Amino acid sequence: MFITVSGQKGGVAKTCTSIHLASVWAELGRSVCVVDADRNRSALAYRIRGELPFQVVPVEAAAKASRFADVVITDGQASSDEEELRHLADGSDLVLLPTAPKARAVELTVELAQLLQRVQVPHAVLLVKVDLRQQRAAHEARKALETFGLQVLRAEIPLLAAFDKAETQGLPVFAAIDDRGRADPRRMAGWSAYQSVAQEIECLISKPSSVASRTISPLPLSA
Ligand SMILES: Nc1ncnc2c1ncn2[C@@H]1O[C@H](COP(=O)(O)OP(=O)(O)OP(=O)(O)O)[C@@H](O)[C@H]1O
Ligand SMILES: [Mg+2]
Repeated sequence: MFITVSGQKGGVAKTCTSIHLASVWAELGRSVCVVDADRNRSALAYRIRGELPFQVVPVEAAAKASRFADVVITDGQASSDEEELRHLADGSDLVLLPTAPKARAVELTVELAQLLQRVQVPHAVLLVKVDLRQQRAAHEARKALETFGLQVLRAEIPLLAAFDKAETQGLPVFAAIDDRGRADPRRMAGWSAYQSVAQEIECLISKPSSVASRTISPLPLSA
C-alpha cells in the first residue's frame, strides 16, 4: 500500500499524519516505511528524537529501504508544483490531504485536489486539528469540500496538545507525557482517531471504484 500525505499549506499536520498512520499500521504488525520527501526532514527529525516502531528514510534512500515494506507512507512537503506532485503521487494508491477546518486551508485543498484530478490520482481529505468545542467549523469545512466533489474521510483528528508533546518526545501520541511527567489524559482520543483513519483508508483502497475524488464540480467556495 502506497500513501502520500500532501498539502499546499505548511503546518497542516502532514508529518504528524504520516507518523501516526505509520504507527497504527506498525502496531498492527505491518512492515512500514515512512519516506521523508520534505526538504525540512521533519519526519526524520521526529524519528531521531525518540522511538518509533518503523523506519523513516529520506526520499533519496527510499528505493532500497521500502523494498520489503507492506506500507509505504510518503511525507510530502507543502507544494503546488504540478510536476513535483505528479512525481510524488504517481506511485500512490491514495494521496491524503490533511486539512484544518479553516477557510484558507479548505481553499488550498480544493486547488490541490483539482491538480490531482488532472493527473488522475486518487485522493481524499482528512480533517485535522478539529477543535471539539467548535465542531460547526468542521461541519462547514466538510460541507464545502464535499460541494467540490472531494471525498472527506469520516474520521476526524481532534486538536490536542498531546500531539505537540508527542512530537517533542519523538513518540506516537499514545505514549505522550504531559508537562507534569504523567501520561497525557487526552492522548487516546488522538490515537483512536488515527486508528479509525487507517481503517477507513484500507477500506477505500480495497474498493478502488469508491477511492477518492475523481470529479470536482467547479462551484464557488463558500467556506
Ligand atoms: N491534531 C493536532 N492537534 C494539535 N496539534 C497538532 C495536531 N496535528 C499536528 N499538530 C501540531 O502542528 C504542528 C505542525 O504539524 P506538522 O509538522 O505535522 O505539519 P506539516 O504539515 O508536516 O508542516 P510542514 O508544512 O512544516 O511540513 C506540529 O507542532 C504538530 O505537533
Ligand atoms: Mg512536515
